Amino acid sequence: MTTSNTPQDRLKRAAARAAIDHLLPGEVVGVGSGSTVNFFIEELGARRNQFPTAVSSSSGSTERLRAQGINVLDLNEVIAAGRRIPVYVDGADEINASLQMVKGGGGALTREKIVAAASERFVCIVDRSKWVECLGRFPLPVEVIPMAVELVCARLRLIGGVPTVREGKVTDNGNLILDVAGLSITQPDLLEAEINQWAGVVTVGLFARQPASVALVATPEGVEERRAAGAAPATR
Ligand code: 5RP
Repeated sequence: MTTSNTPQDRLKRAAARAAIDHLLPGEVVGVGSGSTVNFFIEELGARRNQFPTAVSSSSGSTERLRAQGINVLDLNEVIAAGRRIPVYVDGADEINASLQMVKGGGGALTREKIVAAASERFVCIVDRSKWVECLGRFPLPVEVIPMAVELVCARLRLIGGVPTVREGKVTDNGNLILDVAGLSITQPDLLEAEINQWAGVVTVGLFARQPASVALVATPEGVEERRAAGAAPATR
């Protein structure tokens, strides 16, 4: 049970609760990671009869889901059985008006991108502090194979980044996280494609080529449902 109750926590919980209306009862729920998602997991647990199964994006979320009595399925088994994951719910470190995101503040970006890719819709739950005009103020997380850290750092410096290795963090996949400051991310989809194809990079924390389907942005006045400008409703 999440006990802290700051004004920001209340917004996170409001966004998390609003996500419940986007789920399909009886179907597998894709679950992200982070403090906002932790509130979502609590909301899900309170409705476990309607939503008994999930696919998780991190060991931390798996543990919390199981503590709520939710059955966590292996993604490969779900796909092999031809089952759907209609909705993936996750937070973000930053999100823009095109619903492109920076993610990975918790270091779970690779599994988050995998479960998001396996899901039909991405519902992003954030408090209003995450809504930005231009991505890049939050240092961009990049998951890297340990032997390639210096190689990838050198390439990041060439494009104007200032990378630091996240201290004490080993991902669920046994890799390291670089946090890259100083990047001005004017074309998130191009930067995502570029960094992703460098040798040694597992995943860059830009979720731009597959943005969210909808953002539930919690403000003190209520939760706003925002879609990408020009996007058809309920598509991804
Ligand atoms: C974890 C993530 C999280 O979604 C992101 O860091 C936001 O976390 P929080 O809800 O705690 O602010 O990408 O890898």
